[in-house]
Amino acid sequence: MQIKIACLPGDGIGPEVIAVAVAALQRVADLYGHELVVEEALIGAAALDAGAEPLPQTTLDLCAASDAILLGAIGDPRYSGAEGKPRPESGLLGIRKHFGLFANLRPIVPAQAVLDLSPIKPEYLAGVDILFVRELTGGIYFGAKEREVDRASDLCEYSAAEIQRVLRVAADLARKRRGKITSIDKANVMATSGLWREVCSRLLAEEYHDLEVEHLLVDAAAMHLLQRPRDFDVIVTENLFGDVLTDEASVLTGSLGMLPSASLGAAKPGLFEPVHGSAPDLAGKGVCNPMGAVLTAAMLLRHALGLETEAVAVEKAVDSTLSKRILTGDLCGPADALGTAQVGEAICSAIA
Ligand code: IPM
Ligand code: MN
Repeated sequence: MQIKIACLPGDGIGPEVIAVAVAALQRVADLYGHELVVEEALIGAAALDAGAEPLPQTTLDLCAASDAILLGAIGDPRYSGAEGKPRPESGLLGIRKHFGLFANLRPIVPAQAVLDLSPIKPEYLAGVDILFVRELTGGIYFGAKEREVDRASDLCEYSAAEIQRVLRVAADLARKRRGKITSIDKANVMATSGLWREVCSRLLAEEYHDLEVEHLLVDAAAMHLLQRPRDFDVIVTENLFGDVLTDEASVLTGSLGMLPSASLGAAKPGLFEPVHGSAPDLAGKGVCNPMGAVLTAAMLLRHALGLETEAVAVEKAVDSTLSKRILTGDLCGPADALGTAQVGEAICSAIA
């Protein structure tokens, strides 16, 4: 098939990890007889540098005409919002909102071969397979913001409809997995969480009584994630809690650099991006971990194109690279660390 991808490398280490992800996609396309068409566009600080807005219309047009969007990372300390220009991150929030990408899938699956690379003891990690479904277009990220010199406010708002649609995505996925769903909120304090829990309890009781359901408060959940990670299957939560807890959960895999994500809405194009940020301190050094981006390419193959065999081929290549201990410095000591390009080449040549 023809695969048309809008490629938005973005800022910091974004271009370095995306180069590897695109090479992996090209290798898959060659092996499995697909035609890959990749077109690049600007977003974030890269767009600001070019004198454009963080989310130029030309970028939106390219994305709208593509099967999927592959994004690197957004953020640059040179633009803090105080320069009279918008923050680069507004481009990322804008593209999520524009395409209605309300469900952000973030799998947390520590690789068997490298359980020892996490600071968490291996016996806690064996068999961990968590799928976070983070609500991505609502909550405090998108509520009205006010800022005065010595006062500020962020509004957190959710409608029942917004909660229901992301819960359905999570519950449908739980049905295809181990049949358990954990909903995380702060219902003892926040009104939005009160509504979240009410809508969740009702929906799951009415439409998903086959699922095992657990409700956790976010503070307790943060602890349980490290204490009993194997107990979780699908975790569904609101935008801000999902942002924080997935960075925490990345520790189970050894590094934030390992995590992929898929942001999906009711229609295409979906947006596929690694969970990590632009890591300005690592940018341009050729040392960042490309595995999160490559696993993101696998999610793109699976969720945007329905190419399950190809997705598994990419995931297996990452696994075998890990087994051979071909690692970047975020996963191992500096003496054993290899560069982004070396790790990327190892992954690509392992794709079969
Ligand atoms: C993420 C990132 C973004 C977010 C930032 C860059 C706006 O941290 O995708 O997790 O907070 O959603
Ligand atoms: Mn984040």
